[in-house]
Amino acid sequence: MRVLITGAGGQIGRELVIALYRRGDQILATDIQPLNYSGIQTATLDVTNSQAMWEVLMDWRPQEVFHLAAYLSARSESNPYESWQVNFTATWHLFEACLEAGVQRVFWPSSIAAFGPHTPRAQTPQYTVMDPIGIYGIAKLAGERLAEYFYLRRGLDVRSIRFPGIVGPAHLPMGGTTDFAVHMFYDALQKGTYTCYLKPHTRLPMLYIEDAIRAILELMAAPPEALSIRGAYNIQGMSFSPAELEAEIQKRIPHFRCVYEPDFRQALAESWPETLDDSIARKDWGWKPQYDLYALCEAMWKALPLYT
Ligand code: SER
Repeated sequence: MRVLITGAGGQIGRELVIALYRRGDQILATDIQPLNYSGIQTATLDVTNSQAMWEVLMDWRPQEVFHLAAYLSARSESNPYESWQVNFTATWHLFEACLEAGVQRVFWPSSIAAFGPHTPRAQTPQYTVMDPIGIYGIAKLAGERLAEYFYLRRGLDVRSIRFPGIVGPAHLPMGGTTDFAVHMFYDALQKGTYTCYLKPHTRLPMLYIEDAIRAILELMAAPPEALSIRGAYNIQGMSFSPAELEAEIQKRIPHFRCVYEPDFRQALAESWPETLDDSIARKDWGWKPQYDLYALCEAMWKALPLYT
């Protein structure tokens, strides 16, 4: 398979590159920052430069595109207009260019941030009230509608998942609201203490990085006729609050303590689901998470020494 990845230097991108490499794909990994992946072709690409994006697609002619370049939720609040350009306008341009380049399938991640304060927070249904309050979530919701529109009206095979927070050892994510989970592990090991920007009992859905990558690959491998959703699928892995993660970390590092100093990210987190109903993803393409909080912690403790 010939594939193109945007945002290949990010939290999902760098792990996806490895997974696609192992699958034997011919990869062009792009990012706004220069990438340094040995054995893989890389290019610098600013996705807001629609001409450059078009040229990359026409030149590389990928069969599959993984469009991961994005501004996350917290960073988006300090640059709402730029965030819209990256998260929405560039996605539109990419979909157009994919049609022209004859791309067979596109993956583009949506987010739990597409939900809002009037969404039911427990077992959030696939179809429900969606009134996002952050510009990131607004762009994700618009992107979901755009993806379905491109599928229905233009025949582009776009596939998407509403990702929860993603936790993995290899990358310290920046600019998101769910980043605390990774930061807490790093600070627990390096400092024995962590200052959390959310209140202790704010429960959010989370996914271990391996489950996230597997979800992308399984969704992309599904036969098109099996997919009843072209906006974005709910998926559920585990859910935990900062306090629950703190307690789990204390089992390994008893002196570890969190200090809670909530900031503007609290309002975003409170407007997102705690758990999601992912029954349609399970039925359509066989989604099943493999990691719960215990397995996530075990995997993090095993891998973190390589990165901290
Ligand atoms: N993990 C993202 C964030 O926190 C939400 O999709 O911004």
